Amino acid sequence: MILVTGGAGYIGSHTCVELLNAGFEIAVLDNFCNSKPEALERIKELTGKDFPFYEVDLLDAEGVNRVFDEQPEITAVIHFAGLKAVGESCAMPLRYYHNNITGTLHLCDAMQSHGVKSMIFSSSATVYGDPASVPIREDFPLSTTNPYGTTKLYIERILTDLHAADPEWNVVLLRYFNPVGAHKSGLLGEDPNGIPNNLTPYIAKVATGELPFVRVFGNDYPTKDGTGVRDYIHVVDLAQGHLKALTKSEPGVHIYNLGTGVGYSVLDVIHAYEAACGKTLEYKIVDRRPGDIAECYADPAKAEKELNWKAEKTIGEMCADSWNFMMKNK
Ligand code: NAD
Ligand code: UFG
Repeated sequence: MILVTGGAGYIGSHTCVELLNAGFEIAVLDNFCNSKPEALERIKELTGKDFPFYEVDLLDAEGVNRVFDEQPEITAVIHFAGLKAVGESCAMPLRYYHNNITGTLHLCDAMQSHGVKSMIFSSSATVYGDPASVPIREDFPLSTTNPYGTTKLYIERILTDLHAADPEWNVVLLRYFNPVGAHKSGLLGEDPNGIPNNLTPYIAKVATGELPFVRVFGNDYPTKDGTGVRDYIHVVDLAQGHLKALTKSEPGVHIYNLGTGVGYSVLDVIHAYEAACGKTLEYKIVDRRPGDIAECYADPAKAEKELNWKAEKTIGEMCADSWNFMMKNK
């Protein structure tokens, strides 16, 4: 059985669907601080399968232990639970360090005391800081520019230290690039509260008419059209990467970029979304967003070679699935 922390969230819910469809048994832990119970119902609807759920906060060490006491068949953990808003992490660093790092320490303690030594961790391309060149390989230098990114980097180190102290641990660090899109059914997707920080949820709200125009943060970067370039990856491709990572069952610390290897500019994404929703979308060039980098895309060759995983879905499918989700969840 796989314990999925943060399984009600955006990437976690899609991964639960892929796990159940592939025949894995799962248990889910979430405190709904950034998700809704409805996501769990939709996972069940999509797969026709049930699973134990624990409404537990990772900051509640006893609660986390109880999950392992009650589910002795857990053999591995996919650890999505964490706070992820970059701007908020600058305003509330202690909340981020506490939630993400203390939460992970409680999880590791419970795993260790129950003899569970296999963890797949949601890291991020943010640990590469402002890379000296692209595409980015896993052995590039690491640095961070905000408390959120620092939590990811520290957790990577904590898990690496855990393996150094007990070589039976099997740790897989998955560095995601920019997850976008939604499940084909339109039942699962990204639904942030308030005004979105990330590009595609923002564009989606311009497409529905909830926001008047896309703010393009700068057009004077040294990129093909001056706007920021990122490696957008369909959330279902990303979810499938976790299933492949489960096959990496030998002890060690295994690090993989999960990206497509292709960079798209902000204007490329706006135009792809226009094609998906059949509307012209207004946009205005505004100042650069502090902390943003010009270009970030993966070299995904290691994941392809060692995990036999490759992202398949195009930017057109990412935008079409996002739009379908918006239309079905007005
Ligand atoms: P999300 O917010 O949709 O999902 C995270 C889930 O974890 C939510 O359901 C939330 O309620 C839960 N959670 C948070 N803190 C918790 C706690 N203390 N106890 C129990 N549950 C808790 O985010 P997501 O986009 O699905 O991201 C999943 C993971 O991937 C996160 O760790 C995130 O940092 C990482 N990541 C995300 C992105 C991205 O752009 N979405 C990029 C790189 C890495
Ligand atoms: N952008 C805009 N307008 C917006 C939002 C974003 O022009 O309203 C631009 C940004 O300047 C950037 C690109 O669109 O060039 C993507 O921005 P996002 O906010 O969608 O994503 P980021 O690349 O800044 O960061 C995301 C996650 C991080 C994660 C990182 C990993 O938010 O948590 O991807 O690559 F670490």
